[in-house]
Amino acid sequence: MSDKQFDYASIGFYTFDCLGWPFTAVPEGGGCNMIDEITLAVSGAAGTAAIAAAKMGLSTSAVGGVGEDMMGEWVLKRLASFGVDTAMMQHRPEWKTSTSIVTTRGDGSRPALHMKGATGTFVVEEADFAKVGNARVVHLGGVGLMDAMDGERNAALMRAVKAEGAITTVDVFAGSSNDLPDVDAVLPYTDYFMPSIEEARALSGLDDLADCTKFFHDRGVSCCVFTLGGDGAYYSHQDGTRFRVPAFDINVKCTCGCGDAFDAGYAVALVRGFDPVTAVRFAQATSALNATGLGSQAGVTSFEHTWAFMNTTPTRA
Ligand SMILES: Nc1ncnc2c1ncn2[C@@H]1O[C@H](COP(=O)(O)OP(=O)(O)OP(=O)(O)O)[C@@H](O)[C@H]1O
Ligand SMILES: [Mg+2]
Repeated sequence: MSDKQFDYASIGFYTFDCLGWPFTAVPEGGGCNMIDEITLAVSGAAGTAAIAAAKMGLSTSAVGGVGEDMMGEWVLKRLASFGVDTAMMQHRPEWKTSTSIVTTRGDGSRPALHMKGATGTFVVEEADFAKVGNARVVHLGGVGLMDAMDGERNAALMRAVKAEGAITTVDVFAGSSNDLPDVDAVLPYTDYFMPSIEEARALSGLDDLADCTKFFHDRGVSCCVFTLGGDGAYYSHQDGTRFRVPAFDINVKCTCGCGDAFDAGYAVALVRGFDPVTAVRFAQATSALNATGLGSQAGVTSFEHTWAFMNTTPTRA
């Protein structure tokens, strides 16, 4: 038993997604193309992670911001419908809910239009740091998008949650080395750093996997777990443990939220005390199931389902 109120606190990027599939092209002029499916989802590096973790049995607290608009109302309802605690979700009439229009192609790739909204404006006050840290695993998802939190505030929050004894995981939204200062600020308090390899390369300016991990270990990260898209994931711990795991061989519907689902799967693995290889495989199973449906975490249903999938699905060559 843990003395913590929650298994998981997921802080940061919560977005309302409207997704369509299969997208081929923007119609000429004011035309209209027919497509097969349109759906809604709560997404984002914190939002997808919170819902996928809750579906797999973690008691989960959502920490972020939305507007008092239709999208925000839906995001809060949707989170609550999966049993996610929304007491720490801030909402203000003057904010707009972070929102994406996602056009998923037949191959699963998903160009998007995004309005940043409240992810950039919400602030966790110092008085609430202990409440946020009252979880076994605390996830900061979306560093680089959290304008009001990025930098010193996120650093102070993560320092405080580590002092509360939480295990910390960090995922980013980063396109270049311009985002490095925001990421750098939290790395000393990061147990598991889980960006995509594209983001790790953009932040570090380095190409080689081992060089990239060293770059982040030198900045205070205990463990790097980089996701490599269809090529799997790479694990590197400061204790010298390193390995690569292939991705599962699946029919991809939509890769939206794959990295965020990975964060959730890894949190489940940490709470259950899995060994590192099983943890990475379980996180990848969560991502793979995510990719089989349209909209973040649509394909994730329960711990047992993900566990069975992991044990029965072949991996890619
Ligand atoms: N085409 C694919 N086939 C199988 N698995 C995939 C595929 N694409 C992604 N995955 C799985 O999803 C995980 C995370 O994917 P990826 O590296 O694309 O994350 P990301 O770029 O951070 O995504 P996001 O935009 O959601 O943050 C991978 O480690 C892999 O297990
Ligand atoms: Mg990602």
